[in-house]
Amino acid sequence: MTYDLVIKNGTVVTAVSTTKADIGIIGEKIAAIGQDLSGKREIDAAGKLVTPGAIDVHVHLEMPIGDFISTDDFYTGTRAAAFGGTTTIIDFVETAPDETMLAALAARRAKADPKVLIDYGLHMTIGPTDIAKLDQIPGVYAAGCASFKLYMAYGLRLHDGELLQALTAVCDVDGMPVVHAENWDVICALIAQNVAGGRVEPHWHPRSRPALLEGEAAARVIDIADYVGTRLYIFHVSCQETVAQIAAARLRGLPIYGETCPQYLLLDWSLYDLPGVAGALPVCSPPIREQAQQTYLWQALAQENLQVVSTDHCPFALDEKASRLGNYSQIPGGVPSIEIRFGAVYQRGVQNGALTLNQWVAACCTRPAQLFGLQQKGDIAVGFDADLVIFDPERPFTVTPESLHEAAGWTLYEGMSFLGWPQTTLSRGEIIVHDGELLAQPGRGRFVKRAF
Ligand code: URP
Ligand code: ZN
Ligand code: ZN
Repeated sequence: MTYDLVIKNGTVVTAVSTTKADIGIIGEKIAAIGQDLSGKREIDAAGKLVTPGAIDVHVHLEMPIGDFISTDDFYTGTRAAAFGGTTTIIDFVETAPDETMLAALAARRAKADPKVLIDYGLHMTIGPTDIAKLDQIPGVYAAGCASFKLYMAYGLRLHDGELLQALTAVCDVDGMPVVHAENWDVICALIAQNVAGGRVEPHWHPRSRPALLEGEAAARVIDIADYVGTRLYIFHVSCQETVAQIAAARLRGLPIYGETCPQYLLLDWSLYDLPGVAGALPVCSPPIREQAQQTYLWQALAQENLQVVSTDHCPFALDEKASRLGNYSQIPGGVPSIEIRFGAVYQRGVQNGALTLNQWVAACCTRPAQLFGLQQKGDIAVGFDADLVIFDPERPFTVTPESLHEAAGWTLYEGMSFLGWPQTTLSRGEIIVHDGELLAQPGRGRFVKRAF
């Protein structure tokens, strides 16, 4: 048998095994995993790790927030993702008040489809004006949006009764609800007190969004989910206080899951004290917390009380961040990491001994696929999409705005050096990045219909 492409001699790492093997690809699919396979084309991966393509289930590309739009569009964002070894992302749809969910989904797909370099899915957002549209959810699920985003903060915030209604509707189609859990009333009160007292610098941003109240919001929505009888996934867990609530729920046997992000694993809140715009750049919500929280988050990943590392990639331009320095609560919130995630979790997780190789792959590739209904992705197995990364554990990478392919032109990881970086990224059997070169065309990525 001659395969279209064979990746030879690599160390194949999945969520459950590490083996020396060749991978045979026919068309877009993995066709064989074995020894001495031969192909029309062969790539020698000796000395390299071969992993599933990484999956980032939480990104905001060209997302409007207030007066601003996040800087990476579906082209630059998926390009940066591909360079970092990510082969699938999940972004968001939001409806206008007078728009149906299916119309909003079609509009978002029309924006993404011509630009995407990698495959993508979309979460449907259920905001306050969507509570009247919950009867549309079966149609949305059938159209391939199997997960639904609920906010407990910002203008899209749902009150507890609305959370109950939304969770029930998502449960009825057996979808996955995902939630931004913070206590918005307390945050608003603390911001008002700070601003009235002239405490307007970014230093006050994390101090307006206490970890204790992130945990309280998580506990509240977990209890509502328990009452409804639905599973639930908690976005961007930043602290031990939230981990504790997820862990307690899991101990009770509940299907509750959580993710954290590189900004919480690698950075700490001293960044908010940097002068000028530098202190505004790390503004995101939940905020980056004190350094001690990092250890708890790594432990939670190792103990599988958190299942996933995603990014919440949502950067804004430097001048946009700077334009609201007079009041930290008005700074557009969001930070980038779509390109560094897979390499950073390898270096800081596996190399530092916090995670095994298999846990790294589980958190960045396999569990995101399983939890979000990406049935052909996230694993190296016959019949799966040939989304693969040839990861060179000896390849050094120093982060600068220039070494990245993100559009923002700034990064919170500037100057960090990582040992271990993707050399080659394949999406459905096509080599899309090799040795720092982009080999793919915008629009080749596909919308992936997801289901459980
Ligand atoms: O500050 C953040 N995280 N911005 C993106 C939107 C969200 O809350 O996930
Ligand atoms: Zn959020
Ligand atoms: Zn987000």
